Amino acid sequence: MKEKIQMTTPLVEMDGDEMTRILWKMIKDELILPFVDLKSEYYDLGLMKRDETNDQITIDSAEATKKYGVAVKCATITPNAQRMTEYNLHEMWKSPNGTIRSILDGTVFRTPIIIDSIKPVVKNWELPITIARHAYGDVYKSVELRVEEPGVAKLVFDGESGKHDEVVIQNFKGAGVLQGMHNVDKSIRSFAHSCFKFALDRGESLWFSTKDTISKKYDAQFRIIFDEVFQEYKDEFDKRGLEYFYTLIDDAVARVIRSKGGFIWACKNYDGDVMSDMVSTAFGSLAMMTSVLVSPDGNYEYEAAHGTVTRHYYKYLKGEETSTNPMATIFAWSGALRKRGEKDGNKALKNFGDQLEGACFDTLNEGICTKDLVNLMEGITPKPVNSADFIAAIRERLEKRLA
Ligand SMILES: NC(=O)c1ccc[n+]([C@@H]2O[C@H](COP(=O)([O-])OP(=O)(O)OC[C@H]3O[C@@H](n4cnc5c(N)ncnc54)[C@H](O)[C@@H]3O)[C@@H](O)[C@H]2O)c1
Repeated sequence: MKEKIQMTTPLVEMDGDEMTRILWKMIKDELILPFVDLKSEYYDLGLMKRDETNDQITIDSAEATKKYGVAVKCATITPNAQRMTEYNLHEMWKSPNGTIRSILDGTVFRTPIIIDSIKPVVKNWELPITIARHAYGDVYKSVELRVEEPGVAKLVFDGESGKHDEVVIQNFKGAGVLQGMHNVDKSIRSFAHSCFKFALDRGESLWFSTKDTISKKYDAQFRIIFDEVFQEYKDEFDKRGLEYFYTLIDDAVARVIRSKGGFIWACKNYDGDVMSDMVSTAFGSLAMMTSVLVSPDGNYEYEAAHGTVTRHYYKYLKGEETSTNPMATIFAWSGALRKRGEKDGNKALKNFGDQLEGACFDTLNEGICTKDLVNLMEGITPKPVNSADFIAAIRERLEKRLA
């Protein structure tokens, strides 16, 4: 047996819930621990532990990510009324992802894992398209009113200095609806930094789109800030032959559909919400979508884009065999280990991240897959297996690659 790969800085490890928690252990036992002398600072973000610690554990894990710079996270339950009863919770704790994102002030980038035998619905897409969604403000932090009678609606700003601004939104002649929303320069600026950093990281060009022809102050401010922030990254982009490209959202949609892929598309909050579902569906499967949170000061948290796959977990609890796809969770590990390797100048660890992904591709390219992929594969005979056998097949190929 070859010596295990050594690490110098710990990886922040955030464990999670349900089926993904089961996969987490399998991935660690079979694909990480036999090869890497894993140094990790472990945080159990499973719902019971969050409840027990009044969610302090989530905050601690985010603070640790700020300290060490790289984290890997398992999917976690965001409690709702039904989960309150199921887990006998003290409180309906907030989404851990939301908490971590607000502490790190980060942007989420979602990238599909592409294999030859799963063809995107858009036939000219050859390379992944990563969606970066600005996760603050706009319609998600808006206030709304329903008016039932004629009257005047106004937008009013009272500054601390005494400055007063007022514009008429509409002179209502009858019933209608109105909405007030906002964003802040600080958040837009952080979003821009995260996007330019991530583009350099992946070695891909960055597209950004808004509707600033219509929204001449609101959306225009996004464009202005992106232009300003880009000046800090321009030389590096030029050196690497990468492009920052701004266009209107409608033009971007048309270009994305006609493109080959291979770029990052930064979107405002609502556009990102909609477009990420469109792009992930068109690429094939949520189970093959990775996600990384990047903070403007360069901290990274890797995870799968999907949830805890509750349906499979209940089957698992009944002792039934499950074929849950671990690809996105494995790629969270490979991404985090590679980034840890990059930050520490640890070539062996960086290479391990590449080889682990390579072993996953070797397995899928032979048709060995989980059940969710069977109907998506073309030009190859799928050989569906359960999660444990799929991971074992990856391990076999990983051992060969590392021999
Ligand atoms: N990032 C996160 O931590 C995150 C994200 C989304 C949902 N959640 C949580 O996950 C739980 C379940 O949510 P959900 O059912 O809406 O989303 P989900 O992603 O867990 O599952 C949605 C559907 O997609 C399919 N699917 C997803 N991942 C798969 C995989 N790896 N292999 C095979 N099939 C897969 C399944 O058919 C499933 O029915 C909820 O408690 C929710 O709060 C967590």
